[in-house]
Order: sequence, then C-alpha cells, then structure tokens
Amino acid sequence: MPLLPLPGLLAHARRHGYALGYFESWDSYSFEGVLAAARTAESPVIVGFGATMLDGEWLDGGGIALLGATGRALLADCPVPVALLLNETHSLGQAVTGIDAGFTAVMMDTHHWPAADTVAAVAELVKVAQPRGVAVEAEVGSLPDFVDGQIAGTAQLTDPAVARDFVAATGVDCLAVSVGNVHLLTDGAAELDLDRLRAIGEAVPVPLALHGGTGLPLDALPAAIAAGVAKINVGTRLKAAYLEALSKALASRTGRESVHDLLGSHRALDVQVAGRQAVSEVVVALLERYGSAGRSGCVLREVSP
Ligand code: 13P
Repeated sequence: MPLLPLPGLLAHARRHGYALGYFESWDSYSFEGVLAAARTAESPVIVGFGATMLDGEWLDGGGIALLGATGRALLADCPVPVALLLNETHSLGQAVTGIDAGFTAVMMDTHHWPAADTVAAVAELVKVAQPRGVAVEAEVGSLPDFVDGQIAGTAQLTDPAVARDFVAATGVDCLAVSVGNVHLLTDGAAELDLDRLRAIGEAVPVPLALHGGTGLPLDALPAAIAAGVAKINVGTRLKAAYLEALSKALASRTGRESVHDLLGSHRALDVQVAGRQAVSEVVVALLERYGSAGRSGCVLREVSP
C-alpha cells in the first residue's frame, strides 16, 4: 500500500509542475472506481471521503470509523502512490476521529465559522495531526455553491495577506483558496481570478488547493498550477457520471435478472459496477488534464514514506 504523506506528494507535484486530483468517494464502488483510474493512468492520487455531504449523527455514530476502515482496506493492494483524505468535517472532533480511523490527511469545513475560531481550531488540529504523520488542509475565504441552477451566496475571495498570516499562525500543510471557483457547479465553468491566485501563491509558502473541481475551466489549469495549485478537488462530476450510468443500467434491465446479480454482486450485471466504471472513465480523463498521469513511478522513487 504506497500510502505516502500528503506533503511529500504535494511537493512532488509542485516540483514537477502538475496537480494531484482529490476525487471524492461516497462508498466502496466509487472509491474502487477512483483507484482503478489511478492504476490505469499510472498516476498518484488523493482518495477519500467528504463529510460535508454526510449526516452529522451518522458520522459521529461510527460513520467516520467505517469510512476510514473501508478506505484502508481498499488500499491494501494499491500499486500507485496515494493519500487518504477525510475532507470537510463538520467539527474538530470529527477530524480527530478521522485521524484515529486511519486517514492520512484531514480538513474541517470552517467556511461558516468566525475567523478567530477557525484559526484556533485549525492550529489545534495541526498540533494533534502532524506528530502522528497526518497532514492538515484548511481554507481561507469561501466558495459559493451552485444550487438549483444558480449560484447561491457570495464568494469570500481569499486575501493574500490574510492567507499568509493564517498559514503562519496554524502551520497547515495545504491551503484551499477562493479565487472565483464555485462548489457543485454543473453548468459551464467558473471564472478564475488568476492574478489573485498568483498573489496568494507568492504570499503563501504551502501548496494551494482548488475546490469546486467540477466547474474549473480546464484551459486555466496550466496557469493555476504555475501559480501554486497542487491539488484539485472533484466531487459533483463523479456523482453525476455514476448516476447517469446507474440509470442507464437500470433502464436496460429485462426484468428477468436476479436482484442479487443487480445489486452488490460486483459482477457484470451489478448496476453499481456500471457506476464504478463511469467514475473511473471521468477520473482517467482528469488525471491526464492535471498532468499527473504516468508519474506514479517517479513519485515512488522520489517521495519517501
Ligand atoms: P465539486 O463537487 O464542485 O467538484 O467540488 C468538490 C469539492 O470541492 C470537494 O471538496
């Protein structure tokens, strides 16, 4: 299991001028789809689960432990370099539970929190995580969401000086920024403020992350990577592809199949296998665009565990 520290992976990406994709899973099929894509593309990848879309009580009632154990088990024979991220937890406690559950990187969703609370909680998380070899990502600024065909809320764009002070005060390993990117955007592409991104990249000593990967304009990626972006988060596009494949597979049933073949069998007739395959195809294409495809061997040689 080449589970490598996220800071080493991000540093490799910065050195070689590409970005790592974080492709957010929600179950074992989607997770396997991401891993299969990384194997096919011989690419390093960040795998993991996002807490923000999940019920808080479920997460607190053993959900985080289940997700961590699922991820660790599925990574057992993984030949490509990976990091395992628990993304956007609701609380500091959940992020710490994620560390106990075997995640190698954690991030809290702090975008509704007062700035002072965020700094204190992120600094505390760093103190707990880093001595255990777990990386911490945090965000400065916040993204608007795309909901019901329109952008809901306004972006809090990241201020380069605030970002610099935040990183100095907390010691985070990676910083997510708001530069025009939009969460959950399914229609068209967001407009990135590349000048702002470059200013943040110059002010901040750690690699940058762009969330809202579904709506990122692919033609802006080379400039974004040159400005300091080493991680791109993708979620919505994977679920959309999975659901479309699932719908097609369900629509093509004859009605004579066994329900046991159709659901959870992991055989060809399993409708979730169709979803897994669709996720995989989307991820392979994005790994190519991010420039990480084909770099697995180089990462394994250059990044120490
Ligand atoms: P999208 O769902 O917009 O791709 O964003 C995913 C994300 O940023 C998860 O943190």
